[in-house]
Amino acid sequence: MQAVYGELPLDLASPPPGAVQLSPLMPGSAAIEALADGTLHGLVMHAPRGTLERRYALAHGLRALRVGAPLTVLAQKKQGGTRLRDELDAFGCVVEETSKQRFRICTARRPESPVGLGEAIGAGRPQLAPGLDLWSQPGVFSWDRIDPASALLIKHLPALSGRGADLGCGIGVLARAAMAERDVRHVTLIDIDRRAIAAACRNVEDTRAAFVWADIRKAGVVPSNLDFVVMNPPFHDGGLEDQGLGRLFLQRAAVALRPGGLCLVTANRHLPYEAAMCPLFADVEQIVQDHLFKVYALRK
Ligand SMILES: C[S@@+](CC[C@H](N)C(=O)[O-])C[C@H]1O[C@@H](n2cnc3c(N)ncnc32)[C@H](O)[C@@H]1O
Repeated sequence: MQAVYGELPLDLASPPPGAVQLSPLMPGSAAIEALADGTLHGLVMHAPRGTLERRYALAHGLRALRVGAPLTVLAQKKQGGTRLRDELDAFGCVVEETSKQRFRICTARRPESPVGLGEAIGAGRPQLAPGLDLWSQPGVFSWDRIDPASALLIKHLPALSGRGADLGCGIGVLARAAMAERDVRHVTLIDIDRRAIAAACRNVEDTRAAFVWADIRKAGVVPSNLDFVVMNPPFHDGGLEDQGLGRLFLQRAAVALRPGGLCLVTANRHLPYEAAMCPLFADVEQIVQDHLFKVYALRK
């Protein structure tokens, strides 16, 4: 079996024919952790930018490759690319490196006895985040602290009831806060990141919760006729600012709510979402703002 991890810039590298996708950010892909040792015939990886996450993925890739099987890893120079060679060297690989456009591209073969895989896998594994007391994993959004925009929403969350959804739930902090209300009957937590959904399942152990690993850009993912939605919408895609994604989340929330249903949304102050909110909701109220963030209650 051949595998690919992440979306490849196709002018720089192509996936091996029939390759299985392993990215946790592509719903439906296989999990790199589930691959048996020494079974992969080749792997091409667009390495993640975070150090712990990248070393974890590289270590799992090396663990899963057969001895002598080819590994190609690339990353933008400013997103970990300049560290790739040293990281692969440290795992015992003999590395060839080239530089193209803004990328570093490293090729190697799986050595007979790689070193340090267990330590890298241990550091990047799902874990109780230090100081947070919640399950999380390096690579997940704001993995080891409550995002301040979410903290502001939690502090000002009004009483909720009925059926709701947490769009882009991450490790589940907003859903947890919503479910503190006994009148909340059901919450669907949705995220594109498999690791976030796995953590949320452990953080929100509640029979009223359902968990969905899915891309909200796809139609039909969010349930309908909801009483409320809570969200801290993403405004980055692939490391680049993408306000369109936040606007799409607002649209999905508006469609999912019943008439009179409530969307609680938190966002960076600099994001001009008001223009998108007004045509979608009957009532747009800013509940609070601080020097960085603002929280809205949007009534359908
Ligand atoms: C700003 S974070 C908020 C996370 C969490 N709600 C919190 O408050 O900490 C946005 C979340 O949206 C998820 N996300 C990004 N694009 C998505 C998409 N197309 N479909 C579903 N989830 C997405 C990210 O993985 C991330 O967990």
